[in-house]
Amino acid sequence: MLNSRIETALNAHINVEMWSAYLYLSMSAYCHNEGYTGMAHWFQVQFKEEQEHAQILFNYVVSRGGRVKLAPIAEVETEWASALAVFEHTLQHEKKVTMLINDLYTVALEEKDYATQSMLRWFIDEQVEEEAGVHDILNHLRMVKDNGYGLYMIDKDLGARTYTQPAPFATAE
Ligand code: FEO
Repeated sequence: MLNSRIETALNAHINVEMWSAYLYLSMSAYCHNEGYTGMAHWFQVQFKEEQEHAQILFNYVVSRGGRVKLAPIAEVETEWASALAVFEHTLQHEKKVTMLINDLYTVALEEKDYATQSMLRWFIDEQVEEEAGVHDILNHLRMVKDNGYGLYMIDKDLGARTYTQPAPFATAE
């Protein structure tokens, strides 16, 4: 059984993951409008991944006998200055999510909730990958600056991203 402090913190983080999904869907829409169809696809994959991060937490709360309470999702931005600005925002956003997961882990430590600590370790590792992946894309975008062919090649590369279901994914029944 989850204690109420952990339950509240996990519910808050379900909202963070859904907010992330919403932000990436908005970025996908922006990229489509700017003609970056590969980047738009990359953000669609990101959108799916974030929904599944929320689902993993949902499943975990349910499996521990907790109650999921869904709060409204905060409004997200719809306009950026460039492809570079979109990915700079992505990295900044992922760093914020990392900080929030670390805060959540601290709550689990304080409450001596070992099962929640174990579940959250997957998220901690996932954040390292998320930040590193976006960092690489940003490096490439900075290399090509406004070079049209360079941007075309990066867009093409990002369009090849495939979706992989997160390892701990399991549907709660
Ligand atoms: Fe679910 Fe991108 O963090």
